[in-house]
Amino acid sequence: MAAGTRNKRRKAKSRKAEPQVKKGSEWVGVGQSGIHQSGLFARRDIPKDTRMIEYVGEKIIKAESERRGNEQDELGRPKGDGTVYMFTLNDRYDIDGAVDWNDAKNANHSCEPNAATDIIKDRIWLISARDIKKEEEIVYDYGFDLSYWRDHPCRCGSEKCVGYIVGDEYRKKLKKKIKAWEKKQAKQAEGGE
Ligand SMILES: C[S@@+](CC[C@H](N)C(=O)[O-])C[C@H]1O[C@@H](n2cnc3c(N)ncnc32)[C@H](O)[C@@H]1O
Ligand SMILES: [Zn+2]
Repeated sequence: MAAGTRNKRRKAKSRKAEPQVKKGSEWVGVGQSGIHQSGLFARRDIPKDTRMIEYVGEKIIKAESERRGNEQDELGRPKGDGTVYMFTLNDRYDIDGAVDWNDAKNANHSCEPNAATDIIKDRIWLISARDIKKEEEIVYDYGFDLSYWRDHPCRCGSEKCVGYIVGDEYRKKLKKKIKAWEKKQAKQAEGGE
C-alpha cells in the first residue's frame, strides 16, 4: 500500500453532540457536561424510580467530614470552584465521595432535576425522579442552604434556574435576597460615580 493511502481512507468520526459515556453503572456513565466539566449521563432510557448508581466513598465521622469539607472548599477556591464531595449519611457519619471509584460524584446540580438522592439501608442512591431518555444528563437538587449562596452560581440552564445552587425549599427566600443584593449593588454604583 502506498504511503499515505491508509490515512486518506481513514474516515473522520462524525462528531455528534452526544457525550462519550464511560464507566458508571449499567444505567449511567460519565461524560462531558454542558453545565460544568464532567457530568453523569443516561446510557439508555431509564424508567422513573430506578436506583441508577450508588454514591460511594469513605465513611467518616462528622468532625472529620467538616475538616475535609473545608479543605476541599479551600483547594477549589483559587479557581472559583470549591467542589465539596461530602454527603450526609446520618447524624453520625458522612460519606466522602472524593474517591476514584465514585462515578456518582460527577452528577451536577439543576434547579429542574430529573433525579433525586435517597438513603436506603445506609446506602446513598441516585434515583430517577421521572422517566429519563438515553443521553440526558442526570441532575439532582444539591439542596444547599443559603449560607455562601453567592459562592455557588448555577449554570444548569433550566428556565426555572434561580442563578445560584440552593435547595428547592430555599429558592423563594433566595430570590428576595438577590433583589436586595442587586439594589445594594446599584446604590453603591451610583454612589461611586
Ligand atoms: C460533585 S461536583 C459535580 C461534578 C463536576 N461537574 C466535576 O466535573 O467535578 C460539584 C461541583 O460541580 C459544579 N457544579 C455542579 N452543578 C453545577 C451547576 N448547576 N452550575 C454550576 N456548577 C455546577 C460546582 O463546581 C460544584 O461544586
Ligand atoms: Zn440552576
